[in-house]
Amino acid sequence: MVKLAEQRARWDSRLIFLFAAIGSAVGLGNLWRFPYITYKFGGGAFLIPYLIILLAIGIPVLILEFALGQKMQQGAIGSFRKINRRFSGLGFLAAFVCFVVVAYYAVVMGWSLIYMLGSLHAPLPWSGEPEKFFANNVLQRSAGIGDIGSLSVALVVALAAVWIAIFFCVFRGVKSIGKAVMVSMPLPFILLVILFLRAITLDGALAGIAYYIRPDFSLLLSGELWLAAISQVFFSLSIGFGVLIAYGSFNPLRQGITRNAFVVALADTGLSLLAGFVVFGVLGHMALVQNVPIEDVVKSGPSLAFAAFPQALSLLPLAGIFSLVFFVTIFFIGIDSAFSLVEGVTTVVRDRWRRIAVPLVAFIVCGIGFISGLIFTTGAGLYFFDIIDHYVNSYLLVAVGIVQCILVGWVYGAEKMRNYINSVSRMKIGRWWDVCIRWVIPLSLGILMAMQFITDIRAPYEGYPQWAQAIGWGIIILPLAIALLMAFLPSRPSPAAQR
Ligand code: TRP
Repeated sequence: MVKLAEQRARWDSRLIFLFAAIGSAVGLGNLWRFPYITYKFGGGAFLIPYLIILLAIGIPVLILEFALGQKMQQGAIGSFRKINRRFSGLGFLAAFVCFVVVAYYAVVMGWSLIYMLGSLHAPLPWSGEPEKFFANNVLQRSAGIGDIGSLSVALVVALAAVWIAIFFCVFRGVKSIGKAVMVSMPLPFILLVILFLRAITLDGALAGIAYYIRPDFSLLLSGELWLAAISQVFFSLSIGFGVLIAYGSFNPLRQGITRNAFVVALADTGLSLLAGFVVFGVLGHMALVQNVPIEDVVKSGPSLAFAAFPQALSLLPLAGIFSLVFFVTIFFIGIDSAFSLVEGVTTVVRDRWRRIAVPLVAFIVCGIGFISGLIFTTGAGLYFFDIIDHYVNSYLLVAVGIVQCILVGWVYGAEKMRNYINSVSRMKIGRWWDVCIRWVIPLSLGILMAMQFITDIRAPYEGYPQWAQAIGWGIIILPLAIALLMAFLPSRPSPAAQR
C-alpha cells in the first residue's frame, strides 16, 4: 500500500487503483472460503442468497467505502473521526478484524506452501487420497478440539516463511501492488479455466455441478444461511475491514467511483463462481468414486478446497508442474490480501502511537500475528479456525458493516454522500442506494445477527464445548468493549485528527 505522507500519497493511475482493489478482493476468500461455505450450506441453496446479498448489500457498501475514503482523504479511523469523533472506535474494530483474519489467512497460505513442496514429488503425494493427505500430513489433525495434539513442525516452518514474506512486503511499503496484480490477476483465471475443463470431463462431475447450482428454496428461510452469505460477501469483497477506505483515500477527490465498485464486485464474484464449478465438479467425481452422497465426501468444510483442487490437479497431464503453478498462484493471490490486512492493522497502530518507527510496528504486528497463528498449527487447529472464523465474521465484521452504514447513512447523510458520488461518477446511482444504506443494510444485518445470537446461545456452535465457545465470545466481546470505551470516554484530541 502507498505510504501515508504529509502530502497524501496517490495511486499512479485510476487503473492501478482498480487493480489494487481487485487484488485486495481476490484471494483465498474466492478459491477456498467460497466453495467451503457453499458446501457447508448445501450448494445450490447458498448461491441465490449470495447473489442477492452481493447486489443489495455488497455493492452498495463497496461504493460507500470507496466514496468515504475518497471524500475524506483519510484512512478508516480518520474518515470515521471526521464524521463524528465518537466513531473512531469503529476503525479500531475494523483493524482488529483485519488482525484476526490475517492470523488464520497466513496459516492457509502456509498450507499452500506445503502443497508447493509436495508438487515436486512424483507421483504427487496426495494422489488418490487428497483429504487424508490434508488431514494427516498437512494438518496432523486431532480427533476433536479437546485434543490439542502437538504443533506440526512443517506447518510452523511454513507459517514462519509466510510471515517473513508478509513482513518484507509491508516493511518495504510495497508501492507496486497495483502492477503486481496485473500479473497475479489473470493467472488464477487461466488456471481455473484449465482445471474447470478437466473437472467437467470427469465421471460424476455433472452431479456435483448440479448440486452446486440447483437452487434449493426450502432453505431460504434459514437466517443462518443469509448471515453466512453476508459474511462471505463482506470477506470476499474486503468490506468492513477499513482497508478499502484507505485505498479510496489515495484517489484524487474527483474520480469516478461507481463503475469501479461494479468492476471489482464482478471480477471477485466471477472468480468465486468459477472456483465453485471446479470444486463441485471434482466433488461429484469423488462422490462417484467413493460411492457416497456428495454431502458426505468431505468431512470438514475448510478442507474442501484442499481436497478438491489437489485431486483435480493430480488428474491432469504434467500434474506436478500444474500443481506447482497452482499453489504458487494461491500463494501470490493470498499475499497481496495478507499484507493489505496487515497494513490495516499497522496504519491504526501508527496513527495512535506515532513515535514508534514504521519498521518496528510492522515487525511487532507480524510477530504477534505469527505467534497468534501458532494455535492453528496444532492438531486442533482446524477446529479453532472454525470457531474463530464463525464468531469474528458473523458478529464483528457484520457489526462494523452496520455501524458504518448508520454513520454514513444517518450521521453524515446518505443523500449528501450520494450527491458527492454522482458528482464525480459517470455512472449514477439512484435513491435506492440511500434506502440500502439507511434502512435495508442496518436492519437486515441487525436482525440476522440477533437471530444468529439466539441460535448460538441455544445450541453451542457446531457442538464445540463451552470453553471453546467462550474463546469465541471473548474474541468478539473484548474489542467491542474497547470500541465502546473509546466512544464514551473523553479522549485527548489525536494529532491525526488535525491532519
Ligand atoms: N477479500 C480477501 C479474500 O477474499 C480477504 C480479505 C478480507 C482482505 N479482508 C481484506 C484482503 C482486507 C485485503 C484487505 O481473500
